[in-house]
Amino acid sequence: MQSTREWKEGLHVAVIMDGNGRWATRRGLPRTAGHEAGIQAIRRVVEAAPDLGVSALTLFAFSSDNWRRPPVEVDALMSLLRQYLRAEVARLSESGTRLTVIGRRDRLPAGLADEVAAAERASAPGQRLDLKIAVDYSARDAIANAATGWLREDSPSRDAFGRLLTWQGCGAGRDVDLLIRTGGEKRLSDFLLWELAYAELCFVDTMWPDFGATNLRAAIADFRRRERRFGGLPSMGVLPAAPDADCHALGVATINRPRSMP
Ligand code: FPP
Repeated sequence: MQSTREWKEGLHVAVIMDGNGRWATRRGLPRTAGHEAGIQAIRRVVEAAPDLGVSALTLFAFSSDNWRRPPVEVDALMSLLRQYLRAEVARLSESGTRLTVIGRRDRLPAGLADEVAAAERASAPGQRLDLKIAVDYSARDAIANAATGWLREDSPSRDAFGRLLTWQGCGAGRDVDLLIRTGGEKRLSDFLLWELAYAELCFVDTMWPDFGATNLRAAIADFRRRERRFGGLPSMGVLPAAPDADCHALGVATINRPRSMP
């Protein structure tokens, strides 16, 4: 599911940045202080990633279920996103980082979607790192929305589905190689469920505000020791691409027609 040739080389690492609240609470600080410290960790990881062989980095900053959090925390996260865009866009552009925000934009606070779009335009020429930040993002919603368009495709395929996710602003653009979740929990929390199909999973106890280049290097070193088989066998060496599923044969073309009960 590579989207463009530029990003063909290099790893796609996705991160669930968990543990900000606990990091702050353990220090007697408000949870929002953990999110502020989390921004510094984002800077460290974005800076370190290209030299570690990462060409795409997708970070989970705010899930569609995070709207359930107290308004003070939601407001703090939205305002941190605004500050991050304002403070970082020049540095991102200079370092060849292209920033894209994935997820819904219609529920963001007034003016934020415009700032997101401006930051995306300013950093668009970047070719060193494809940085995606997921905000108001739900993989299930993304998949459900893409399914509607997919049924209208002349030749529905896995690739076409991935392209639809991306085109609708809710896709990571390519398959994830390595998923890292900080904070000690072991779950996916509705993040990139389509793109994670063959990702290697790495769960670390480090709280996100303490995460940095050394942790990323260790996670990638562990990833490189793993054998990825994509459903094949170890002896097969470089694996041929699997044939795409024949989606018409699976019956998707008729899936939304009423069926008579046997
Ligand atoms: C999960 O930790 C983290 C989040 C819900 C937000 C992640 C946000 C940042 C790292 C900073 C904001 C970044 C941008 C770009 C806006 P948690 O709060 O659930 O921690 P806990 O599990 O310890 O409670």
